[in-house]
Amino acid sequence: MEYTDLISSRYSVRAYKPEPVEDEKLHQVLEAARLAPTAANRQPFQLIVIHTQGRQAEINKIYRRPWFAQAPLLIAVCTIASQAWVRESDRFNARLIDAAIVADHLILAATNLGLGSCWVAAFNVEAARSVLALPAEVEPVIFTPLGYPADQPGPKLRKPLAELVRYEHW
Ligand SMILES: Cc1cc2nc3c(=O)[nH]c(=O)nc-3n(C[C@H](O)[C@H](O)[C@H](O)COP(=O)(O)O)c2cc1C
Repeated sequence: MEYTDLISSRYSVRAYKPEPVEDEKLHQVLEAARLAPTAANRQPFQLIVIHTQGRQAEINKIYRRPWFAQAPLLIAVCTIASQAWVRESDRFNARLIDAAIVADHLILAATNLGLGSCWVAAFNVEAARSVLALPAEVEPVIFTPLGYPADQPGPKLRKPLAELVRYEHW
């Protein structure tokens, strides 16, 4: 898909068909995540691919919306703080920026392949840790279901550029 069409057509899909995601498409989505830039190229992330079939009740402990466990796949983007680049001047750790770029690559690649996704940050962290058996140093950042959309995009509600952009100074 042409880039402008791609970023315009992505939307938060909150209903999924049960049909499986082809292995080749999953591979392409994961490959797009792998190519994401990270600070100092530290790549301090891990992706967890979760097959939802038969695990819906458990997965809904992570996030209670029914559509969260409706797609055949769920992907968790996790980071490991100790592996991430840290800015010397104020000890800012770039792991969450890295994770967001990884997630965005993944989600846009999914859109390009006709797959639906939805950024989910409002999950229960303790439930995510328990269901995914995460070691203490692994931080879950973003989840997205991955599957074929069963809903339609709504209007894109965005602030106009005039409210978002300043030139030369604040
Ligand atoms: C960092 C982030 C976290 C989000 N968390 C959630 C969430 O927990 N649940 C949800 O339904 N949508 C979540 N969203 C989706 C946003 O609500 C959605 O992207 C926004 O309303 C714009 O709509 P669109 O994605 O359809 O363009 C999240 C989006 C982002 C970028």
